[in-house]
Amino acid sequence: MDSFEWNKIAGGVLGSLLFMMVVGVVSGSVFKTHKPEKPGYVIDAPAEAVGGVVAVVQTVDVGTALAAGTAAKGAEVFKKCATCHNAEKGGPNKTGPNLWGIVGNKHAHLGAAFGYSDGMKAKAAEAWSFDALYAYLENPKTAVPGNKMAFAGLSKPEDRGAVLQYLNSQSDSPLPLPKPAPVAAPAKTATAGQAKKA
Ligand code: HEC
Repeated sequence: MDSFEWNKIAGGVLGSLLFMMVVGVVSGSVFKTHKPEKPGYVIDAPAEAVGGVVAVVQTVDVGTALAAGTAAKGAEVFKKCATCHNAEKGGPNKTGPNLWGIVGNKHAHLGAAFGYSDGMKAKAAEAWSFDALYAYLENPKTAVPGNKMAFAGLSKPEDRGAVLQYLNSQSDSPLPLPKPAPVAAPAKTATAGQAKKA
């Protein structure tokens, strides 16, 4: 064997040693981080996060719902209303009153021109704000007690948002849309805070 061969063998041995050292360091660090310092942490954080998400889903504000919809989508949703309502300018009353210009108008906005219930007439001084319409379309019975709209309501916030976009467009003077409430940010902060404490 000449010196060239010996060099190759020595190089191989050194290379293997170096490799083993690297593996040792890497696996050492893997095992170190593997040891759970706070076993409760991993379980706590997702639980808080889930709670935060549920809270956000339950309280979709009218601004956020409006932002999720478009007037075109609302025209589709309005098909559920169209058996009883026409929303064109100068359109007829059906089982329910014509809804042209309803957003921002008063409750029972057609006055004596439509046979409103006493429950609806009792609110004649109140405006149909986006908030009031949003609540009425979610649950007509509880929002205006004693009213006679035989409609179960639109349970999905995005459907209510879309139909309100549409109704707002069916008007001589559409109103500016309320801004979405910043619900997502505080929920995230609360979750992060919980995670740090745990
Ligand atoms: C089964 C028929 C029916 C359906 C379906 C229906 N409505 Fe009505 N709606 C009525 C009646 C009747 C009234 C009048 C209620 C009263 O006088 O108590 C009314 C009243 C209203 C009012 C108040 C009008 C005013 O002048 O104050 C709005 C707004 C309204 N409906 C929107 C809708 C929307 C939007 C939908 C669909 C998502 C819908 N309605 C579905 C029958 C209906």
